[in-house]
Amino acid sequence: MINGIPTLDDLDLQGKRVLVRFDYNVKYSNGKVSDDERILRTLPTLTYILSKASSVIILSHLGRPEKAGEIDKDFSLKKVAEHLSTLLSEEIYFHDDLNLDHFSDNQKKISMLENVRFFEGETDNNELFSKKLAQLADVFVMDAFGSAHRSHCSTEGVSHFIDSCVGRLVEEELNSLEGILNNPSKPMLGIIGGSKISTKINILESLLEKVDWLFVGGGIANTLHKSKGYEIGQSIVENDFLEEAKDLSKNNKIILPDTFVVEQKDKSIVEKTSEGILPDDIIYDVSINSIKSLNNIISSCKTILWNGPLGFFEREEFSRGTLHLAKVISESDAYSVIGGGETLTAFNQSNLLDKVGYASTAGGAFLEYIEKGSLPSLDALKEKI
Ligand code: 3PG
Repeated sequence: MINGIPTLDDLDLQGKRVLVRFDYNVKYSNGKVSDDERILRTLPTLTYILSKASSVIILSHLGRPEKAGEIDKDFSLKKVAEHLSTLLSEEIYFHDDLNLDHFSDNQKKISMLENVRFFEGETDNNELFSKKLAQLADVFVMDAFGSAHRSHCSTEGVSHFIDSCVGRLVEEELNSLEGILNNPSKPMLGIIGGSKISTKINILESLLEKVDWLFVGGGIANTLHKSKGYEIGQSIVENDFLEEAKDLSKNNKIILPDTFVVEQKDKSIVEKTSEGILPDDIIYDVSINSIKSLNNIISSCKTILWNGPLGFFEREEFSRGTLHLAKVISESDAYSVIGGGETLTAFNQSNLLDKVGYASTAGGAFLEYIEKGSLPSLDALKEKI
């Protein structure tokens, strides 16, 4: 049991058919899985289930397909099934028929359904589809921590109709996040990046109660800067949030970058201070010099929590601020907890993931758990006792 939620140790899986929800919403490039961290982290759960159960059916989503009721090849899980099959050296039956009445495991111990968001009803948490999923197995295991903030059939609804518990990854995530939330070694530095302040305003407010300093980068920092009267040129900004940003930036725990990597009107890329930004400039990254001004804080703090890139990370020339901060954190003595796709990629890309105290596989769910201390699909499992 963890936080009143049953775990794999509380259910008897011997000889049972097990339905498991993972978060295999992974990155692709050239038609191949390019970052399999989320897949690797589910292997302890999968291996445990395979050692007991008669069969296992894997559920996951991939991306955000526009329409339900049809297969969109761009969001197919087929490549993920092939990747997993290679990792396990086991054949996996891939079921790409969207009518679950046609499901049969084809004598394979492991099956995977096509992207669960292709099925009608999934994202509406439709009761009928939840029941259909529940009918596929004897036990449901929720191990998609990255999707635990979604009340969908495959994350929440199904657990109302079948014996259910969380898997090893959810257990590990909860243990690590509880530690940093309830008993962090102080002082503590929070770092929040990303493009939109609108999606992070609640987490910024809640983190300000927990941390000693909060460094803000990415587009969020632009909105805060503009609210303080600075020129930000043509950079990404949310003008509707300037009032909230103004209130937030009065908090003296907030640290904003003061030098940036900027693209000028003629497309040249230069470094500029806050005062030097011109009306045609676009801020795309925090400069390495800005991060240097954090050195004293990073070397004196005991805990660091980080979510979100500091710049336009997809473009190499604007990923340097994020990559440099990853390097500085990995060299510090502080216990670090990181979450979010790009943040993980920044450490992974530089082979620094093993220098992190804990790397959460979740982005949105990581932030929601830090903010609220609970997640809807995990709360539903508390009723299963
Ligand atoms: C994520 O990558 O944050 C999770 O897989 C959730 O994806 P979603 O935001 O599309 O629900």
